[in-house]
Amino acid sequence: MNTLMRLSLQFPQWRTYCIKQCAFAGAEAAARGKPNYEEFIGNHHQQAQRSIVVQVSSEKSYAELYNYCSRFGHIVTVQHYSVQHEDELHYMLLEYASSEEATAAISSSAYNAELSSSGGGNGVPVRSPFLWFRAPAPGAGRRGQPKLANNQKAHALHTIYGTRALNHEALKELLHGASSIDQQLHLLYERTCLNDLGVRMRFLAALQVEQAISGMFPEALAQPFGSSVNGFGKMGCDLDLILRFDGKTTTTDQDIQREASRLIYHTKENLSNGRSQTQRQMECIGDMLHLFLPGVCHVRRILQARVPIIKYHHEHLDLEVDLSMSNLTGFFMSELLYMFGQIDPRVRPLTFCVRRWAQSCGLTNPSPGRWITNFSLTCLVMFFLQQLRQPILPAIGAMVKAATATDIRVTEDGINCTFARDMERVGFQSRNTSSLSELLLQFFEFYSQFDFHNRAISLNEGRALAKPDHSAMYIVNPLEQLLNVSKNVSLEESERLRIEVRNAAWMLESEVENTTLSESERREQSWGLLNLFKHPEKSVIRPNMFFKPRMVEVSDLFDKSQSQPPAINYKSPTVRQ
Ligand code: CTP
Ligand code: MG
Repeated sequence: MNTLMRLSLQFPQWRTYCIKQCAFAGAEAAARGKPNYEEFIGNHHQQAQRSIVVQVSSEKSYAELYNYCSRFGHIVTVQHYSVQHEDELHYMLLEYASSEEATAAISSSAYNAELSSSGGGNGVPVRSPFLWFRAPAPGAGRRGQPKLANNQKAHALHTIYGTRALNHEALKELLHGASSIDQQLHLLYERTCLNDLGVRMRFLAALQVEQAISGMFPEALAQPFGSSVNGFGKMGCDLDLILRFDGKTTTTDQDIQREASRLIYHTKENLSNGRSQTQRQMECIGDMLHLFLPGVCHVRRILQARVPIIKYHHEHLDLEVDLSMSNLTGFFMSELLYMFGQIDPRVRPLTFCVRRWAQSCGLTNPSPGRWITNFSLTCLVMFFLQQLRQPILPAIGAMVKAATATDIRVTEDGINCTFARDMERVGFQSRNTSSLSELLLQFFEFYSQFDFHNRAISLNEGRALAKPDHSAMYIVNPLEQLLNVSKNVSLEESERLRIEVRNAAWMLESEVENTTLSESERREQSWGLLNLFKHPEKSVIRPNMFFKPRMVEVSDLFDKSQSQPPAINYKSPTVRQ
């Protein structure tokens, strides 16, 4: 146990610092340029509080909606997106200058009396940032509405970002049009990573849950983590959410006074077993989400898993959500990955390509099973970048050593997530000048040779260790070092990975060497990453490959999880305008 850990155990108030501190990161470092993780999370959390989502009849409703909603305050941005239901449903995400203005818009909203009068049943009168813009009352007409003034237009940034992933043809076209493999790698990253709208939508989904329970738990915090916030998320990725009943505020003077208070809240007694308590609470939260929250549908409870979760679909955001209440280290693991992505501009494009390649050859699969997950693959990329002769990433151990008191984070269940948040203090600087395509090739070559049978991967040490058990693949969980991140991977899947990395190394080597293609040949032929993502039956199988790769269609390049949206069991109000 290091000194910082011991300190935090001696002074339990430091423990509560863990998640609490992260919700509202101070703005003090905002001026430093790139936001750090806590600033990123805190800024988006606040932005969600200033935002509303309004369902409209079409994109053309913008001017009218803008005029109407301007009466509640200054609108900073408006972003349009649509969701494919039975028809295409249109939405505008509006951001106000302050949360009070957004609250005024929400508070002014009416409940839908039309549903009951038309025999459609009463809507449950729940207040949330999800609204719809109905047609004006008969007689009120639109004629009386002021036209959008030019200066207003200029102020409202109406953008149509959309939230859908690039389709197969569009991505193929994009990669064809690139001038080099390096450019393909950049394009793949830039055009498939989660956009600003996607991040805003995910924080709104979190805020909805938080606000729903805020009456009973005023300090509740629903915190996004995983690929939605770690910089490795692609368009359409799921939202991982951790819900804490008491995560919200920083330690204030009021809290310190409270510690000394003679008045103590009466509370319910905890059930003896923490796990069954969490399961019961999650069951109840699941029912609450299902029965009361607008947009939430297709709620499933997976409570027997190591980390019990509630899965649901949000139909106004077209989003799959995994909500947990006990995976406390996931949040800090996401911070580590966020920092790794910030350290060097090559980290994220390289990881995106590896994840896309794994998807295209069927190594990953959206449903959980004995195959490698995106998170494990990401760890493989991070480890590869740490162990290079000229490392591009530092070992986590070096970040732990450089930590100071302000970096102490210990989860409520006592797991130490302390590491330096300021990379300058770690003093790591990479001298590696390899291009992205060189790194990609080296990645495949490295794992073609890696001894998965006997060695474990440690991101803490930045080197391979002796494997502590007989798992087919062993990646030490950086924050819970007794756990194996890739415990689920079967021997067969681990062998398939080895085969596929060899295939990829062999194929990419000839692609990198082939610099003689003319511009027109590039347009007509499959080259570079397009070949890497190709149907495996067309790729050459090396002689020592005894497991036949699974047949995978080229369409597997694209997100399977999006191809079959779950059934929607909530009928949207018809927007009449
Ligand atoms: N996580 C972890 N240990 C694991 C699995 C997950 O710490 N054994 C954390 C990681 O921070 C991970 C997050 O939980 O990023 C969410 O896990 P998951 O959804 O499986 O991975 P993502 O990184 O979100 O990737 P994807 O886009 O596939 O959802
Ligand atoms: Mg995820």
